[in-house]
Amino acid sequence: MSDFAELHFEGEVYKLPVVEGTENEKALDISKMRGQSGLITIDPGYKNTGSTESAITFLDGEKGILRYRGYPIEQLAEKSSFLEVAYLIIYGELPNAEELKKWETEITYHTLIHEDFKVLLEGFPSNAHPMGVLSSCVTALTAFYPDSLDPVRSKDEVRISIVRLMAKLPTLASWAYKNEIGQPLLYPKNNMDYASNFLRMMFATPAEDFTPDPVVVSALSTLLILHADHEQNCSTSTVRIVGSSHASLYASVSAGINALWGPLHGGANQAVIEMLEAIKADGGDADKYLAKAKDKDDPFRLMGFGHRVYKNFDPRARIIKKAADDVLGKLGVNDPILEIAKKLEEAALVDPYFVERKLYPNVDFYSGIIYRALGIPTNMFTVMFALGRLPGWIGQWKEMRENNEPIGRPRQVYTGENERDYKDVGSR
Ligand code: CMC
Repeated sequence: MSDFAELHFEGEVYKLPVVEGTENEKALDISKMRGQSGLITIDPGYKNTGSTESAITFLDGEKGILRYRGYPIEQLAEKSSFLEVAYLIIYGELPNAEELKKWETEITYHTLIHEDFKVLLEGFPSNAHPMGVLSSCVTALTAFYPDSLDPVRSKDEVRISIVRLMAKLPTLASWAYKNEIGQPLLYPKNNMDYASNFLRMMFATPAEDFTPDPVVVSALSTLLILHADHEQNCSTSTVRIVGSSHASLYASVSAGINALWGPLHGGANQAVIEMLEAIKADGGDADKYLAKAKDKDDPFRLMGFGHRVYKNFDPRARIIKKAADDVLGKLGVNDPILEIAKKLEEAALVDPYFVERKLYPNVDFYSGIIYRALGIPTNMFTVMFALGRLPGWIGQWKEMRENNEPIGRPRQVYTGENERDYKDVGSR
């Protein structure tokens, strides 16, 4: 392989180094190009821009491959636990038995939230979206744990900041929900596993305890694993860019939660259910909505379809579709919108518009249907995504700081007015 490419511009030739990843991905290093040629590159939405070198997640959108630290997502979803995967993503290797025990114990120990958080929560209107509440609470952690504001200087501080965030996010997420529905906030129970503890805090009340169904616990753990990381997506890039200014882990992750919220990213799981409900209410005509999605004068898009990088199939969607059938079958749930979803998928997969543009169901097309069957309310779906994505955000933030990456600061091509003189308001 040639280790450079040539750029010919205005009679000069510039050599651009080629960088190669461990899966033979090749990239042009243009970091010195401006100094040499005066040129910058432009790529709105960073569709073809590598912002970093990362050793965490590999995905091949053409082949539908997703691996965390080299391990195929299919194996991890089937065999491991969410906390094991979280450790793998954050620390680079699967934990041995002793490391796993210590990790689980530490995370269990730190699940309690400072009592003053209750005052903060009371300040939100009861109809506040739980994603807004969650991101505010995660930012607020910086006030309660100022010792972790600059955690990169000490390994112990890094560790405790990470453990606190992993441990407290399920408690905060359930509190955001309880606050919304006006029920008392429940404390975590440290003898329960991660997913069960979260489900109990969501669905128990002081009047009635709640023991999660093992089918539900297992499905939730799988969903969390499937969402755990996805390389440089919108929210993860946000976490890295905020963290690149040396903002704290909590501030960086809070920004990631906000980026995830939008319907083109993590908010798609809520948007999918709302779309399927609307189709059902309108008589269940999948073809009508397919036609709307294809009409360029209609802003409607088929939510849960298409992906920036997967142009063949989304491996997570395959696992989730099967899980949706399993879970609904085991729980005896007969959800009519699952049938509408399947009809939409079948029709889209043979429709030239979707085929030509390589638009396939993504991870969010079926995840909302499972969350619904598990009893999770629709506006908590994106919160569920955030719980799953947390190890990815942490791992990527840690990698970025450990590699001492420079502050993120893209350039632009200016298209506004040229210099002009100020005129007094009366003479304009
Ligand atoms: N329905 C109808 N048309 C679509 C859709 C869709 N869901 N997605 C893309 N297209 C069309 C788009 O109009 C464009 O057509 P044309 O070339 O004629 O202008 C073409 O396909 C390429 O689309 P794009 O918007 O340029 O692609 P992108 O890479 O910028 O956007 C996406 C990717 C995921 C934002 C987009 O496919 C979309 O909006 N999907 C629906 C929202 C969704 O499901 N998001 C969840 C993504 S997976 C979870 C996550 O990781 O966040």
